[in-house]
Amino acid sequence: MEKLLQVENLHVTFKTHGGEIQAVRGVSFSLDKGETLAIVGESGCGKSVTARSIMRLIPEHTGRIREGRILFEGRDLLALTEKEMRELRGSAISMIFQDAMTSLNPTISIGEQIMEGIIRHQKVSRAAAREQAVEMLHLVGIANPERRLKQYLHEFSGGMRQRIMIAIALVCRPSILIADEPTTALDVTIQAQILELFKTIQRRTGVSIIMITHDMGVVAKMANKVCVMYAGKVVEAGTVRDIFYNPQHPYTKGLLYSMPRLDDDSHEPLYSIPGTPPDLFSPPKGCAFAARCDYALEVCRHHQPEFSCIQSQHQVACWLQDPRAKHVFPLRTATGM
Ligand SMILES: Nc1ncnc2c1ncn2[C@@H]1O[C@H](COP(=O)(O)OP(=O)(O)OP(=O)(O)O)[C@@H](O)[C@H]1O
Ligand SMILES: [Mg+2]
Repeated sequence: MEKLLQVENLHVTFKTHGGEIQAVRGVSFSLDKGETLAIVGESGCGKSVTARSIMRLIPEHTGRIREGRILFEGRDLLALTEKEMRELRGSAISMIFQDAMTSLNPTISIGEQIMEGIIRHQKVSRAAAREQAVEMLHLVGIANPERRLKQYLHEFSGGMRQRIMIAIALVCRPSILIADEPTTALDVTIQAQILELFKTIQRRTGVSIIMITHDMGVVAKMANKVCVMYAGKVVEAGTVRDIFYNPQHPYTKGLLYSMPRLDDDSHEPLYSIPGTPPDLFSPPKGCAFAARCDYALEVCRHHQPEFSCIQSQHQVACWLQDPRAKHVFPLRTATGM
């Protein structure tokens, strides 16, 4: 069966005053219809750059997609013209940006901002667009949508603004919604409501979601599949069960171990992975995690590990998986297994 989206060997670099940053270094994953894929990893590991590459929104003068293919329904997005891409953006593939608050315009009413996309992509009358905007605000849980349409950004709470961002992203019924840290700035109650909203919308519309987060709690609630990224690469990928119950990469285990647990009454301080991610101006020759990994072998510092398959969908790039590697005692994981 053809995948809805396939990202293959994506490489993205940026020119900066300090030199060239290798932000994304050979990322591959796929997304099926109706599925939620979580992309998880520490700050700076390349999550947003990967997402922006799918939208082809990498800054033109400094950023460059050097290699790879991004197939949407079999068509390579990297080969489309800007005009073709503009037609897809917001209609077939939509994105909620990490800095959502600044991507809404404070000088134009919310109604106009929702209707803009409908009018651009569907070529319908203002009245029809207005009707759809009302319906959409209703769907994302904003009460009294007719009146709300006339209001401006500053008249909404943080949670409501996030709902409006979701409404704008979904109004043209995209097949793929990319949500970049959509709940990070919200308090936990609102966060839970917004995550629930994503699920409800997915059930109703069948939209596929790429959820970018650094929060394993969000991953557990939302995802079917997970890609764990580290220093511009995917280091482990699998179903949500694989990642939580059978994690293989020491970095994935570290992420899980640093999750707070309700059933932990040990009073020990919460674990955090020691050290910092490597410099992406000149990434290490071997495994990028080696310098922080308690289990690193000599080979890890010199050679990139290949992806090995644990089970059909579960893959990991770690030398410890090599049959020739010495056996190491597994780390305790957040699930206690
Ligand atoms: N426009 C840009 N110009 C130069 N470097 C950039 C640009 N955008 C991203 N980068 C660099 O690319 C790397 C990956 O950035 P990215 O925004 O994808 O991280 P992220 O995983 O989304 O992190 P966070 O969790 O903090 O949002 C970082 O080293 C960042 O400094
Ligand atoms: Mg980001």
